[in-house]
Amino acid sequence: MCGIIGYIGSKKASPILISGLLRLEYRGYDSAGIATVEKNGLSVMKDKGRVKNLYNLEGIDDLEGTIGIAHTRWATHGKPSKENSHPHLDNSKNFAVVHNGIIENYSDLKGFLEKNGYTFYSQTDTEVIPNLIHYYYTKDKNNDKDRILRAVQHTCKDLKGSYAIQVISKYMPDNMIVVRKDSPLVIGKGDGECYISSDIPAILSFTRDFYLLNDNEFAVLSRDKVEFYDIDLNKINKNVKNIEWSASSADKNGFEDYMLKEIHEQPTAIRETIGSRLPENEPCNFDDLNFTKEFLTSINKIYIVACGTAMHAGLSGKIAIEKLCKIPVTVDIASEFRYRDPIIDKNTLCIFISQSGETADTIAALKLSKSKGATTLAVSNVIGSSITREADYSIYTHAGPEIAVASTKAYTSQIVLLSLLAIYFAEILETTSVFELKDLKKELLELPNKIENALKSSKRIQEFAKNIYQEKDVFFLGRGVDYNTALEASLKLKEISYIHSEAYAAGELKHGPIALIENGITVISIITDPKLVEKTISNIQEVITRGAKTLVITNQELPANNFDTIITVPDVNVLLSPVLSIIPLQLLSYYISKEKGLDVDKPRNLAKSVTVE
Ligand code: AGP
Ligand code: GLU
Repeated sequence: MCGIIGYIGSKKASPILISGLLRLEYRGYDSAGIATVEKNGLSVMKDKGRVKNLYNLEGIDDLEGTIGIAHTRWATHGKPSKENSHPHLDNSKNFAVVHNGIIENYSDLKGFLEKNGYTFYSQTDTEVIPNLIHYYYTKDKNNDKDRILRAVQHTCKDLKGSYAIQVISKYMPDNMIVVRKDSPLVIGKGDGECYISSDIPAILSFTRDFYLLNDNEFAVLSRDKVEFYDIDLNKINKNVKNIEWSASSADKNGFEDYMLKEIHEQPTAIRETIGSRLPENEPCNFDDLNFTKEFLTSINKIYIVACGTAMHAGLSGKIAIEKLCKIPVTVDIASEFRYRDPIIDKNTLCIFISQSGETADTIAALKLSKSKGATTLAVSNVIGSSITREADYSIYTHAGPEIAVASTKAYTSQIVLLSLLAIYFAEILETTSVFELKDLKKELLELPNKIENALKSSKRIQEFAKNIYQEKDVFFLGRGVDYNTALEASLKLKEISYIHSEAYAAGELKHGPIALIENGITVISIITDPKLVEKTISNIQEVITRGAKTLVITNQELPANNFDTIITVPDVNVLLSPVLSIIPLQLLSYYISKEKGLDVDKPRNLAKSVTVE
């Protein structure tokens, strides 16, 4: 949601800023703009609509500045328009600011500034920031080199809400100031130059050396160094972190869309996520955890908290942990969990799952759990992301950068990582037989090859997509782990094909939803749990009787039946089957979206990382 890019170096900033914004497009936005420090002051170019429109703005090619800030806006306050686009200037036009997040007390601050003679030209909450900086700058009579930094610090002390902010000024031709609180921002260090970005992949082609800023930390960037300060402007030291992702891992690599590429990357993503966590003839290995039997025995309840697809992965994690470790697990949506006063104490383990590690609700839920004394564990795909810095412990999926808004490889990697975690706990707690765990480990290691096999359903799925892409409603059914897959498949379909769909636990059908089944409607069912085959088949018969067309995804030998289409995926332990049964359903959403001519990677209204509530 929203993207921030910055550059300070010796090259012309504007092309670098625009190419960075293009790489952040996937996050979702409605307008774009850049500001640079030019010889005669600040230049701001912005408009609503696509980043590429910036190339057509008059004068953009004449920009010479080597320091600049850039923004893609996902409007929260004020409709998408040129005036509301960032960067925003203060009234004197000497400070330019881009901001990601929400200033909750902006109307009080605006009132205060208006009383002090300031005029506002946009409806955004953001415009108070450059004006407050100007206010504090003019109030400060000490004209030393830190005057602007102090003005930014005072401004931030007044702000309530979330923000990642970049500031440039006519008075500061060789520096840029950045600060963050509850919104993402990373600093890339090159040779004689620095980059700013909302995420790492956008600037991977420029550098692999990153500084990660914590909440309420300021950075003052020069061409050859970055200085860090805490909220009271005490200097702090930070080490550069080298990120292993290669620049090409953030490219399409010959695929038509990022989503298709990421679906096909799942065998590799799973291999990397397992990595060295399953050493031969030894217990499962989580270097970063080192939990003791005493600690795990003290845990009497686990919460898994996340949003969207990550929450669906959590549902499969619950089944694995409860089965293997015999600890009760509750899975919760972060935006609900944070406001319902959950019962948490020092014997609670709270696990937070987030691909981006920047989801506002998940971060807030984590902070709440910590304040109530729980042990917190973050599961993320992005090294150094906010949740990993907040949590007591962090473990990573190694799926590589996920660019498409619709999550695919992160989801299956999360399920695998949670299964590994369940095995790790069970081995310490001795709650499951060594033989059963050994079999499960073997199955985990075989998963990447089985995903390759599942991907072979692609052609048939594409044909099926051609038959149903004009549908208005689709239903997904499943029981147990297959219900979790139904939920995730339904979300994928909604997200990228805009077809209304619902997922139901197959047994719930006759408690209401069956009233919606009518002649010709498509019902997609998943059957992978051997114990539940007959039960789900009976439910499918009930919809066939009412005229439904049926697609069944299964890894079971089904008895003779009257289903319209059956797609078979490889057989696997039921705890891992969601990883395989989702593959044809990810492909189905993808091909339906393509049939409809939609933008698969950047679906309407959605953002990759949801950094506001
Ligand atoms: C996935 O396809 C969705 N775009 C969305 O539900 C996503 O999973 C959710 O916003 C959570 O994101 P996170 O994993 O980065 O926290
Ligand atoms: N709240 C600001 C606005 O509406 C910033 C939104 C964003 O993060 O893009 O302009």
